[in-house]
Amino acid sequence: MADRARAGSRPPKAPRAEVRDEAADIGVEARLAAGVLLNAALEGRGGLDAALSFREVAALPPADRAFARAVAMAALRRLGEIDHILDRRLQKAPPLAVRTILRIALAQTLVLGTPAFAAVSTAVKLAERDSKTRPYKNLVNAVLRGVDREGPGVTTAESNLPEWIAARWRATYGDAALAGLALAAREEPATDLSLKPAADPAAVAADVDGEALPGGTVRTGRRGDVAGWPGFDDGGWWVQDAAAAVPARLLSAGPGETALDMCAAPGGKTLQLAAAGASVVALDRSETRLRRLTANLARTGLAAEVVATPAEDWEDDRTFDAVLLDAPCTATGTFRRNPEVLRATRPADVAKLADVQHRLLDAAAERVKPGGRLVYCVCSLEREEGETQIIAFLRRNPAFATAPADAAAVGAPEQALTPEGWLRILPSMWAERGGVDGFFVARLDRVA
Ligand SMILES: C[S@@+](CC[C@H](N)C(=O)[O-])C[C@H]1O[C@@H](n2cnc3c(N)ncnc32)[C@H](O)[C@@H]1O
Repeated sequence: MADRARAGSRPPKAPRAEVRDEAADIGVEARLAAGVLLNAALEGRGGLDAALSFREVAALPPADRAFARAVAMAALRRLGEIDHILDRRLQKAPPLAVRTILRIALAQTLVLGTPAFAAVSTAVKLAERDSKTRPYKNLVNAVLRGVDREGPGVTTAESNLPEWIAARWRATYGDAALAGLALAAREEPATDLSLKPAADPAAVAADVDGEALPGGTVRTGRRGDVAGWPGFDDGGWWVQDAAAAVPARLLSAGPGETALDMCAAPGGKTLQLAAAGASVVALDRSETRLRRLTANLARTGLAAEVVATPAEDWEDDRTFDAVLLDAPCTATGTFRRNPEVLRATRPADVAKLADVQHRLLDAAAERVKPGGRLVYCVCSLEREEGETQIIAFLRRNPAFATAPADAAAVGAPEQALTPEGWLRILPSMWAERGGVDGFFVARLDRVA
């Protein structure tokens, strides 16, 4: 708890106008749903997505559901700071249901800019509704009014990171990088779009009130359902974080070449490879996720051969000019979009997934033609899933060698380039542009 009180960092505050304005009209049910989503996310991986179909959430009108999700995400991003503010005012720990009501209310007032009268009155009403929380109604009122009157006090961004993750990232990347990662973890990211080569980034940027980034990605602060955005039905773009677009650019597959995307769904990188003119086979073990890939191909008018199979068991003897392995991983680099990953990941997951990656890398090597190339990537910040995998792979496979990346040419931050020629993209990079997802990317060429 001591580090949470360290002076000098900003208190949480990043009001979003549309959420702030609507919040006063949104009722208790949406706040209840926000609590359900928050606790589901804290309980385990995939919990938040699963909870979106729970009755308390699914039955809400769309605006209330969007508000509930925004509140839960804000609470997840700032959980350490919110708990610190609460702990300073609570003499003893209240039951989880009471803490949830308080967390949800502070996420509204301190992060989303919801007027205090709306957040406090709905929190008190929520406490009144249940016999277990009713005895705490006055406490809820007093704590929230106290924070509103006296302010939240000083909190630190690092307190939002689980301690074991902060310790890991400090050991791997150092104090300054950890501070940058903690700041990146507090903010809601923009939406990035990848474009077909024929689309003009400036024109798409103008359509969606965005800006073109190096590499050709268009970034927009727009919110809401992308299906309603200009150009969606024309299929000239798809949603893909700027860092996620780097691996397929590094693979650089083009017309007349064959490409294998071994873990392809929901398909952002398959779309890039197909749009670049390669003849693509897309594998994934999840049929459900492949349905999204197929829908994305249909909307964008692009083609790929899609096969539902574990990549290592694929019964087919073809080899390819270009192989992409975007391996399953802890996804700790995606905390800006999925703040729940930091809560759901356990230390043992890193080793478990590293085993899977090792197996898939060996299967990938067998699919590369002599003279062909392999790009390996993970959206994880853990070395065991990135650098360590490639060091071990190169020892096992002397026919492959690193082809050093040109960061600028593939639209990656310059600081991401490692001495070995790999890319270690951190979410704290391009901070002035709003950051990027964390990725490790390496290109390995096979001797002819
Ligand atoms: C990081 S995601 C891929 C994201 C995708 N490349 C994109 O750009 O949209 C990892 C994917 O690996 C799939 N997967 C996990 N184990 C697999 C295996 N053994 N073989 C093939 N796919 C696998 C998961 O279903 C998941 O869709």
